[in-house]
Amino acid sequence: MRNSTPLEGPVLRYAADHSMAPGPVHRWIVAETDRRFPDLVQMQIESHQGPLLAVLVELLAARRVLEVGTFTGLSSLWIAEALPADGRLVCCDVSEDYTSVARQAWERAGVADRIELHLAPALDTLARLDGTFDLAFLDADKENYPRYLPELIRLVRPGGAIVADNTLWYGRVVDDDDRSAETEGIRRFNADAAASPWLDVALLPMADGVSLMYRRSSQRS
Ligand SMILES: C[S@@+](CC[C@H](N)C(=O)[O-])C[C@H]1O[C@@H](n2cnc3c(N)ncnc32)[C@H](O)[C@@H]1O
Repeated sequence: MRNSTPLEGPVLRYAADHSMAPGPVHRWIVAETDRRFPDLVQMQIESHQGPLLAVLVELLAARRVLEVGTFTGLSSLWIAEALPADGRLVCCDVSEDYTSVARQAWERAGVADRIELHLAPALDTLARLDGTFDLAFLDADKENYPRYLPELIRLVRPGGAIVADNTLWYGRVVDDDDRSAETEGIRRFNADAAASPWLDVALLPMADGVSLMYRRSSQRS
């Protein structure tokens, strides 16, 4: 397999410098997360994933977006700021503590009125949701990824997209000795997504693996 450009420090910096720039509230979230949850900063999306989410919202002309796994709000802010003023982002998380940072960020950025936060296990929240979403971003507990997939296929409109983070799981997906629940969850998710007749999948080897999935209107034969 060809790997055209070695993606290391200066090249990653160049890519970031030629993508949408983070705003002051994105930078505040990063600093506040570092201050309050210094051991958990790796939970945030990487810097180049925010522009990808924003561009997808714009490409899809999305008005209704679903996020599973909000943490301190970095991905949700990129999504919410790309939505039109009457757009809606439904966020799912279980932590009042983490999402208190997100809530402050949404207020600071002036997008709080576009966002609905559900604090409950996401499988319960998704089961209660109906209507359709243009885009869903999955970034929560890895062991449950396979259970989220059919719910997201149900909730995302034909022609919409599902994006899942961490689908290479630090390379552990190819470590046969790793039988942890999280790694097995990601493996099952990747296998189910690739086999789904409702999805066209591009697993992008960026960040920790980002699966970009088109929700088809008819089953692939
Ligand atoms: C990797 S972090 C999300 C990072 C976020 N997308 C960002 O850009 O900062 C995963 C989040 O999933 C949440 N989570 C874990 N298990 C969950 C569950 N069963 N239902 C909903 N959220 C869950 C955690 O509380 C955590 O905030």
